[in-house]
Amino acid sequence: MFKRIGLAALLGALAILLVLVAWLYVATPGRDDTRTTPGPAAATLEFPAGFFWGAAISGHQAEAQQASDWTAFEEDVLRNGRFDAGTAYGTTRPGHIRDFGRWSEAVRRQKSAFETHYAEDLAAARALGLNAVRISIEWARLFPRPDMTAPAPEGIAYYERVLAEMREQRLTPFVTLFHYVSPQWFFEPDASGKRGWERRDALEHWGRFVTAVADHFIPDVEHWCTLNEPMVYLYSGYIDGVYPPLEHRADAAAAADVYQALLGAHALAYRILHATAGARGARASVGITQAAQAFAPLRDWHPADRVIARLVTQAWNWDFLDAIRSGRMRIAASDVDRQIAGLAGTQDYIGINYYTRVFIRGDLAHPTRPAVLYRDPAQPDEPVNDMGWTSYPHGLYAVLTEAARRYAKPVFILENGTADDAADDVGRQRYLAAHVREVWLAIHRGGADVRSYIQWSLIDNFEWVDGFGPRLGLIAVDYENGFRRSPRASARLYGEIARSNSLPATYARP
Ligand code: BGC
Repeated sequence: MFKRIGLAALLGALAILLVLVAWLYVATPGRDDTRTTPGPAAATLEFPAGFFWGAAISGHQAEAQQASDWTAFEEDVLRNGRFDAGTAYGTTRPGHIRDFGRWSEAVRRQKSAFETHYAEDLAAARALGLNAVRISIEWARLFPRPDMTAPAPEGIAYYERVLAEMREQRLTPFVTLFHYVSPQWFFEPDASGKRGWERRDALEHWGRFVTAVADHFIPDVEHWCTLNEPMVYLYSGYIDGVYPPLEHRADAAAAADVYQALLGAHALAYRILHATAGARGARASVGITQAAQAFAPLRDWHPADRVIARLVTQAWNWDFLDAIRSGRMRIAASDVDRQIAGLAGTQDYIGINYYTRVFIRGDLAHPTRPAVLYRDPAQPDEPVNDMGWTSYPHGLYAVLTEAARRYAKPVFILENGTADDAADDVGRQRYLAAHVREVWLAIHRGGADVRSYIQWSLIDNFEWVDGFGPRLGLIAVDYENGFRRSPRASARLYGEIARSNSLPATYARP
């Protein structure tokens, strides 16, 4: 009797489990291999009036080293000769910078020498027909020492010159306040032994920096991006340990205090920028930009790949933005659930950086540590860029329309681009046209209120731990010949798009 009940219960439980797994499997969208979204075959695709066509750089990648955590890391790498290139881009060993030692001291220290070339670079952007440029204001340049109560005057003067030049060239500035890099002193332990964003006084210091920026640069700047790709910062710095502070924690939950401080930093910056703009009768548009990717299950039939690809999409693309919307920070696959005062609703727009599609091979035993592949080994013929990334334009359409659906806010594309070293960079031209087409479709078919398309990057620059090898610039920089600039063929195509505020019919074919 007991045996029979036991068996029946077991079979019942098994049946329920099977139904649950089957439901989850069916309810989880499978892999979408649509490369380009269906749309008009060959018509000129006109963009809305006032659309921003821009190109971006960030301070540490294009300008001289400051007294920052990244500079300290680079000096350490150099001292210890840690230049391991890994087997491919993206596989540089933790603690190393790919081939860093092969570049001259001038290049290592000045990166793309934007300080001495900004007038030329901004004039080139204008000559192409762009109307926007994204830069970053570096915290370490304004506050190289912790005891400073006012920003370094020469730092302020530098950004004043750059912004004046943008005004002169009629380029609208988009300004990022944290593009992965902080002053070196920020990583000295405080009295409780905490470093960086976990210091007790982290937001006090950050607030001082943001207040100084707001005081000096409002109303010159309206478009503010408080944080660049917080998830990349968190994973690369605290989990994969490839960016400073080079830590290897188990997962995002183990870095929950950093996650929370970044959200707090965003909310504080939002308040400061709006308060200053309000007091001066100026406008401010404030948000973050998220590295949104198209995550696909590697093996479409495999429940682990499907379910985990969906979880990763939520955790990587949307959790941080959801937290800003609701004021509640939740970290997937953990019990972290915190209410953050003053956070809810502090975004005027959704910033999207989009590059490529990645494939997820899940492991149900370790759901937070899936394998992430830049290409599907089952599709070996698929073309890749110089960094081994495929071009998947439909993914941009998918993230733009999803962002619009979720948040009902304007969307600004603050980065999109590819690595192609050739002077006649056919790969970049194809990538550019195909992605711009998806933006048009997202606006006209997908109902997304997209306001900008900003290419990464205006000029070749330092690609973090992958060093100077990958070339993402519309304009090439010759590091061996005095940082000489030369526009690639794609710059001309991009200029044509920007000047006509449209994608000409000849390029609009999928
Ligand atoms: C970052 C840039 C980087 C680019 C290309 C983005 O993740 O914001 O700093 O150079 O991608 O990898």
